[in-house]
Amino acid sequence: MIVKMFDVESDHKDIKEELLIIMKEILSSGEYILSKEVKALEEVFAAYIEVKYAIGVGSGNDAIKIGGLSLGLKSGDKFVTVPNTYIATTMSLSTHGLIPLFCDIEAETYNMDPEQLENLLKTEKDVKLCIPVHLYGHPARMDEIIDVCKRHGVKVLEDACQAHGALYKDKKVGTFGDVSTFSFFPTKNLSCYGDGGIIVTDSEEIYTKATMLRAYGQAEKKHVHIVEGFNSRLDTIQAALLKRKLEHLDRWNNKRRHIAWLYEKELSDTPLILPDEAPWAFHVYHLYVVRSKEREELMQYLADHDVSTLIHYPTPIHLQEAYKHLGYKAGDFPVAEQVVKEIISLPMYPSLKEDEVMYVSKCIREFYGM
Ligand SMILES: Cc1ncc(COP(=O)(O)O)c(C=O)c1O
Repeated sequence: MIVKMFDVESDHKDIKEELLIIMKEILSSGEYILSKEVKALEEVFAAYIEVKYAIGVGSGNDAIKIGGLSLGLKSGDKFVTVPNTYIATTMSLSTHGLIPLFCDIEAETYNMDPEQLENLLKTEKDVKLCIPVHLYGHPARMDEIIDVCKRHGVKVLEDACQAHGALYKDKKVGTFGDVSTFSFFPTKNLSCYGDGGIIVTDSEEIYTKATMLRAYGQAEKKHVHIVEGFNSRLDTIQAALLKRKLEHLDRWNNKRRHIAWLYEKELSDTPLILPDEAPWAFHVYHLYVVRSKEREELMQYLADHDVSTLIHYPTPIHLQEAYKHLGYKAGDFPVAEQVVKEIISLPMYPSLKEDEVMYVSKCIREFYGM
């Protein structure tokens, strides 16, 4: 049996005919950028998350960049996030002159540790923004993070790029920050067929600014540019497909949760550390990340048995070559650094079959001589 890490083609199989009809309609419509389809997606996505506004953009990276700049951040301003996220969380803003700082994570959820955040904000005086990441689809501790940020006058941008539909205390992630961001990269829980992303907010001011920034600083009138902006317009075709796929997101998330439940049933007595779901969390398992002291050997054993796995992410951001100039060193964020050495992402996607999960689990048990 061959088990892929992701299978984006088979994930949409049961609605492929519907998607093809939508694609044909858009091809004949003559409208390919923004348009009423993007507006319609923005409305249904905002309603799904339960926020007032959504702004479709070119990628998750652009959503963070435009979201952050819409808050009024500028070159030289400092922002804090975690070291164990995808590089886009920092590079989206650092390429615009903003300076990333990091705080360590908690070992249970792999997300921002509010105590570490508090410690950092006590010593670093002019941090303007905090970016908690809902990593792997598990929400960060938003109440504590918002409380710390409020007391220190720091704005919050949620990086929910991996967490469409996840709940923190029964409320969707994306509703807590001043602004929040999602990616529609093809492997994400809600995905398109190329790059795409969306910003959500309850603030009319941020909505207006982000809408201008995504389209060369243009407001309502064509060729009237109010601010310097970017070209980060969501394609009509992607928006139309995403709108249809959004109707299936909760069902797909529940399939992911079922797969996680099955892995847990099969693997809970192995030496692996399995992902935690905090009592206040609804995890949407964008990734199913386990920890092993024998990480390299286990990955090799699984590869030898045709099971694909990955590491999300092998090098913490503060130790990346690109950020050498920031002056961080190994040992600065011990929890994240230890976790990163042990993590393995097992196959996880809605169309993953039960017998495939059983096969992956059997291989892992064999590896441990069980
Ligand atoms: C946590 C996180 N932030 C940001 C991004 C950037 O999204 P995109 O790839 O759509 O630019 C991703 C996607 O890979 C991500 O996983």
